[in-house]
Amino acid sequence: MTVWGKTASENYHRRATGMLRGFYRRLATDVPAEPGTVLVDVGTGPGMLLHHLAGSGAELHGVDPSPDMVAIARRVADDAGLAERLTFAAGSAEDLPFPDASVDVLVSSLSLHHWADVARAATEARRVLRPGGRLLAYDFRFVRMDRALAAMRAEFDQVSRTRVRLLYARLEAR
Ligand SMILES: C[S@@+](CC[C@H](N)C(=O)[O-])C[C@H]1O[C@@H](n2cnc3c(N)ncnc32)[C@H](O)[C@@H]1O
Repeated sequence: MTVWGKTASENYHRRATGMLRGFYRRLATDVPAEPGTVLVDVGTGPGMLLHHLAGSGAELHGVDPSPDMVAIARRVADDAGLAERLTFAAGSAEDLPFPDASVDVLVSSLSLHHWADVARAATEARRVLRPGGRLLAYDFRFVRMDRALAAMRAEFDQVSRTRVRLLYARLEAR
């Protein structure tokens, strides 16, 4: 797995997350986050999607394999007064730092195309999700999702890919 370093992480935060504000806003209306929901953003980067979910009352966690991204996510949450609402930890789609059957929603934005081992990610998603829980992975529409869809179908009963706006697609597994 290639881990994003400090410069790449800071550049992503400075250049991309502002432009993606509308995308996060749209996702926040699509993601089932209610009081009591335990939600984990996989490959959270600077954690901006979680900022858009902060008012939901859900328990919100972000994980990322890059320690530099985790540091940025904590700093940005702190600056926004959200340090008490959001937790961030090192972790990857293939290795989630959560106990079995402890998560209601796994969400991911623009990260799926970085996952090195989608079969392991699917097994890991199945492990941490509670019965009835679901995974929602959003990525660019041009990203090939065949391998991820096949891997998810090996673990979940219902797997689908749908278009979101012009540019994005959503992989859902439950
Ligand atoms: C393009 S950024 C997206 C960040 C954020 N989700 C967003 O929408 O702004 C991709 C992120 O995926 C993370 N990533 C890379 N490999 C990963 C993996 N195997 N599992 C989870 N996240 C991964 C990177 O560290 C990076 O933070």
